[in-house]
Amino acid sequence: MCGIVGYIGNRNVAEILIEGLEKLEYRGYDSAGIAVLGNDEVKVKKYKGRLSVLRENIQNEDINGTIGIGHTRWATHGEPSDVNSHPHTNSTGSIAVVHNGIIENYMKIKQQLQEKGYKFVSETDTEVISHLIDYHFEGDLVEAVKKAVADLEGAYALGVINKDNPDRLVAVRKDSPLIVGVGEGENFIASDIPAILKHTRKVYILEDGEMAILEKDKIELMKTDGTPIKKDVYVVNWDVEAAEKGGYDHFMLKEIYEQPKAIRDTLSPRVNNENEIRLDDISITKEELDRINRVYIIACGTAYHAGLLGKILIEKYVNVPVIADVASEFRYGNTFIDENTLMIVVSQSGETADTLAALRLAKEKGARVIAVTNVVGSTISREADDVFYTWAGPEIAVASTKAYTTQLVSLALIAMQMATIKGTITEEDYSGILNGLNKLSKQVKSLLEKEDLVKEAAKEIYNAEHIFYIGRGIDYDVAREGALKLKEISYIHCEAMPAGELKHGTIALIEEGTPVIAVATQEHLYEKMVSNIKEVKARGAYVIALAKEGNEDIEETADSVIYIPEVIDELTSVLNVIPLQLLAYYVAVMRGCDVDKPRNLAKSVTVE
Ligand code: F6R
Repeated sequence: MCGIVGYIGNRNVAEILIEGLEKLEYRGYDSAGIAVLGNDEVKVKKYKGRLSVLRENIQNEDINGTIGIGHTRWATHGEPSDVNSHPHTNSTGSIAVVHNGIIENYMKIKQQLQEKGYKFVSETDTEVISHLIDYHFEGDLVEAVKKAVADLEGAYALGVINKDNPDRLVAVRKDSPLIVGVGEGENFIASDIPAILKHTRKVYILEDGEMAILEKDKIELMKTDGTPIKKDVYVVNWDVEAAEKGGYDHFMLKEIYEQPKAIRDTLSPRVNNENEIRLDDISITKEELDRINRVYIIACGTAYHAGLLGKILIEKYVNVPVIADVASEFRYGNTFIDENTLMIVVSQSGETADTLAALRLAKEKGARVIAVTNVVGSTISREADDVFYTWAGPEIAVASTKAYTTQLVSLALIAMQMATIKGTITEEDYSGILNGLNKLSKQVKSLLEKEDLVKEAAKEIYNAEHIFYIGRGIDYDVAREGALKLKEISYIHCEAMPAGELKHGTIALIEEGTPVIAVATQEHLYEKMVSNIKEVKARGAYVIALAKEGNEDIEETADSVIYIPEVIDELTSVLNVIPLQLLAYYVAVMRGCDVDKPRNLAKSVTVE
């Protein structure tokens, strides 16, 4: 996820671009850059680091021009660095491009262009676009962009300028957001409305496969095949702060709603057209895997909860013992690590101190380390042997949501890949999991539509002092995540318990009205869970159950039920967590808590 802006008009463009980018920094902030067209040349300034680094660096520079594009980056292909920052240009520097999205076939295009003599300077997927436009360029920028995008697969919102077309800015959209701002004698493009709200409230919202050709007094809209289109102007009536959150009240809610896309983005580059998993990110061979006799999955908090699924899948399908542990315990405990150990560290930020220490310890002892992380160029991603990125985009809210679901998907993919290489999975199991994974994005979307039901449940429990979460097997793991989510943002004491363990002590705490969230979605454990629900009901608990569609008999036992769609047991957590996240969110809102920045917590825990 990145942010792009563009301007064409009569004013000096650099400051307009930087101000616009400031409003998009939430979309990524590891590097920033601008390209300005003036005095018959395209000047590019781009730097690793926050926007302030760019601003400082151009302070005393003479960058005059009235057409320009800008970018704030969330690295995907290639670590954050000056050279990997956008805008990217062709070799002569006459064409500059900013891009938000991922070009899936960039390696193929890069190779073809290299064979034709094109020289690449960055590791990015975006650089192929500037060279590809150059390749198709015969004097008309619009025609060249149309031809170039016809060759691209993947997601893109693009802004393009060209020295030889000094009165035009071209923008195209597919699967990444892009809007066109309509001004007086000036026009704009941006990834999101806040970037241009200071200048205009009139916008066109581009749809997939549409492009806009901006001149200072004119905007032409067409499909990428050249068919002209007409659109209504949308007049923005919200303020900037609300708009940055895409109209949601909090980043957490926005990020909960981004999960169908985050799951799709994490999955689709790794599943080919033949419906096979292909993980170019992990280069482990059969010989290396055969040697591995123990796997550690190490992480903290939510990432650890995701890791618990990795343990179940790897043990079941790869047939290797797995120890899953929280990093702060692992690093001071007895470890059994040598060159036959594989460690998988899971970390959204890629900077968590304890997880990083575990990685270093494992490497010191000769283990191979795979990192599952969301932040390109993070310390953990740099120090691991292999990196598997969750393409969730920046997670701003302290409470992790979309990172968790994409970590679950990532671990499932890694387990499947390992099992395939080792030959330890049946075709039936493999296709069962793959088909399940392919359905998740849509199923999560359908669950998000049950928001009102969850809000009703939140009303019943938001005044509680203690809440218990119970489940068995994989459902217990997601119950732990649900309890963590609720306690960290609502400050209600929550405890997750294996449902069968309640009777060994904790059930003493259940009294009239105590809320119990019961996750009952494992087919083979369903009847056992119903019995456990009856046990707490008999002590007066108020039970909200999560169950699979088809198990409606649970309504006879629980007070309120939220159903998840049919899914194989191994992937239930991806669905169960959606109502649990929404429940935590609405309880916190009803209690007037600071949802995005809960007390005592930080997004990235870089201390022990
Ligand atoms: C909870 C939460 C934390 C993090 C934990 C690890 O919502 O966000 O529990 O999961 O601090 O952080 P990362 O994944 O960045 O290593």
